[in-house]
Amino acid sequence: MRLLNSKPTLFCGRDTVFLPTSKLAGMKFTFYGHATFSTELNGKTVLFDPFITPNEAAKDIDINSIKADFILLSHGHGDHVADAVAIAKNTGATVIAAPEVIGWLSKQGIENVFPMNHGGKRAFDFGTLKCVNAVHSSGMPDGSYGGNPMGFVITFGEKSFYYSGDTALTMDMMLIPRWASLDFAVLCIGDNYTMGYEDAVEAARMAGAPKVVGVHYDTFGHIVIDKGLARKAFDEAGIELLLPAIGESIEL
Ligand code: NI
Ligand code: MN
Repeated sequence: MRLLNSKPTLFCGRDTVFLPTSKLAGMKFTFYGHATFSTELNGKTVLFDPFITPNEAAKDIDINSIKADFILLSHGHGDHVADAVAIAKNTGATVIAAPEVIGWLSKQGIENVFPMNHGGKRAFDFGTLKCVNAVHSSGMPDGSYGGNPMGFVITFGEKSFYYSGDTALTMDMMLIPRWASLDFAVLCIGDNYTMGYEDAVEAARMAGAPKVVGVHYDTFGHIVIDKGLARKAFDEAGIELLLPAIGESIEL
């Protein structure tokens, strides 16, 4: 059994010995609205799918205050890349995305980039990143081709999580337990453009996630959900659903 959110102690006579906590400590997770969030892993901040300035609900978030060592983009849609160029310039972060998304960034002067594609796995300072399938579409804001949309599985030490990106429920999610024993998953739950919360429950089961952070809901009219029903669906499945407020940080 893994000890994640407690500070483990060993008692040796009168002395209390604290175990190294690098692999055991909780991970800081900050939600910035829509499908934008950051995680802190191994002292590195990873920002996902930055869409803040066009999001009225996130108007209290100042993108100039956001730190990032890495920016991961799941696909090219505007509601996932809107602030990528500005934040990449501000922070000097390395941007990881599909080669076609990287091409769009390069045209805008972003040089610190790392292209990856489906099935690829690579070790970075923040952990090992594996790019997995997402069933969706991907075009860039300027109309150029965005390649195929991705999800990400990240593992650092004993900590693993899955971010689905925008996707339908797909049997491909059943592969995830072969690669990682998840602590949690970040799943879209808003329906219409992606899976809704009912399918996200099934996605969590397939991927083996005991906890889910719901994203990609309530931002626009088409993806407004009944959060009470979403909680009930996850409760009935015995899976914890977390819906942090915009700007809120939680430990996972
Ligand atoms: Ni999309
Ligand atoms: Mn989207």
